[in-house]
Amino acid sequence: MKIFSDIAALRAELAARTGRVFVPTMGNLHAGHISLMRQARAHGDTVIASIFVNRLQFGPNEDFDQYPRTFQDDCDQLRAAGVDVLFAPSERDLYPEPQEYFVEPPAIQNLLDGQFRPGHFRGVATVVLKLFNCVQPQVALFGKKDYQQLMVLRNMTRQLALPIEIIGGETVRAADGLALSSRNGYLSAAERAEAPRLYRCLNTLRTALHAGNTDFAQLEHNAQAELAAHGWQSDYIALCSQADLSAATVDNGPWVALAASRLGNTRLIDNIEI
Ligand code: PAF
Repeated sequence: MKIFSDIAALRAELAARTGRVFVPTMGNLHAGHISLMRQARAHGDTVIASIFVNRLQFGPNEDFDQYPRTFQDDCDQLRAAGVDVLFAPSERDLYPEPQEYFVEPPAIQNLLDGQFRPGHFRGVATVVLKLFNCVQPQVALFGKKDYQQLMVLRNMTRQLALPIEIIGGETVRAADGLALSSRNGYLSAAERAEAPRLYRCLNTLRTALHAGNTDFAQLEHNAQAELAAHGWQSDYIALCSQADLSAATVDNGPWVALAASRLGNTRLIDNIEI
């Protein structure tokens, strides 16, 4: 695996390579990321990963400083997964001057996570467009765990006519159902034992909808109450249309149940398509 931090050197390496498939990450890799790397191989000859903890997508009181940086271990995992090229720029490489031009996503950026993380999707879209410009992939993969992010990036790619196919990878879960996340490492042992309840609540919503219960507001309320009774503080539990993340109605299926909830200081997100 060749490793680059400099944009010009990366471009020189990639110029001669065909079938570029890209998996952007913020590092602290787990089996979910590695599953994307392995899927990437089926879509082209050159698999490129990036590791960059993007300051622009973190709010002032979020975990940018604390976010785990595990570069050597990440490189070992990427090598074992057969990644060809790693782009790991420093902040100075990617933002040599203050970033003053941004990608401003439309109203979808203010829904759900955007309500609780103002500016988050603007930061994500901006860095991903910039990474796309550095790597110029034909295909890019993102995990479905970050469902809203995947939609924002898919829409951005389509609307800006970027010649890139966006592929969503299924969420990888621990045996007890907890979605793998770099932030799971923040959980205490007791919180880790409690954490799978989030996925169980989403499954309960799915079961209810499959059984024909479309009292969406009541279902959301029940899920929130179940989590609150076990010490969770929820930002949202929402049933939405898969088409545009608008609130679910009987007419706008297929749906997706999305949740963001805190256990102690750790904010977990998850979703399940229905
Ligand atoms: O999902 C992530 O890890 C990040 O949001 C991404 C897409 C790499 C942009 O920084």
